[in-house]
Amino acid sequence: MKVQYLGHSAFSIVTSKGTFLIDPFLSGNPCTSIRSDDVVADVILVTHAHGDHLGDSVEISIRTGACIVATFELSNYCYNRGAKTLDVNLGGTLDLQIGRVKVFPAFHTSSIDKGPSLGQATSFVISGDGRNIYHAGDTALFKDMELISEEYELDLALLPIGGRYTMDIKDAVKAVKLLKPRFVVPMHFNTWPIIKANPEVFKSKVETETRCKCVILNPGEVITLD
Ligand code: NI
Ligand code: MN
Repeated sequence: MKVQYLGHSAFSIVTSKGTFLIDPFLSGNPCTSIRSDDVVADVILVTHAHGDHLGDSVEISIRTGACIVATFELSNYCYNRGAKTLDVNLGGTLDLQIGRVKVFPAFHTSSIDKGPSLGQATSFVISGDGRNIYHAGDTALFKDMELISEEYELDLALLPIGGRYTMDIKDAVKAVKLLKPRFVVPMHFNTWPIIKANPEVFKSKVETETRCKCVILNPGEVITLD
């Protein structure tokens, strides 16, 4: 299984059966040169409605035919704009042809730009090829992350570290202790000055205080989970 960082909170997860795209915010993303028109996807997972996560999801769904997986409210929003969708909600599991997705909470909000709130923000465990990956979305630290590591042996956690709207480095290190992944990749930092964080500080704390290995990816770079 290959996991490519597309910048901010966007990732592409390639299993032997197909490609998951998560939070594909590419157009207008100052930290990536990857273009929305160039990405492939079979399934698009969207953690919440904020523009830096919903991003190009609808356009990519229309171009590729990939289904958007999101909460009932957000998936209806996307469906009404022409996307293919599968609606889910917290606690739900979807068995898809390319892998399995379970929906967990994220402590965060989920509004369209300055518009209405579209339900609850989420995080996901994505399973395929015998590997489990947790994408935390834009969450604050919450103790029930423990329940996720009780249910799954996580190979990889994708965690926000930028603070202000999400966990900062200190809280993300605590999240690693609750989730117990083999690897962690930091996300949602340095896209703009307001979420400035030093990933080397996160890496050093994680690798001093836990047995987890931290891999810092630049947009476009890949981690392979054998
Ligand atoms: Ni957000
Ligand atoms: Mn965000």
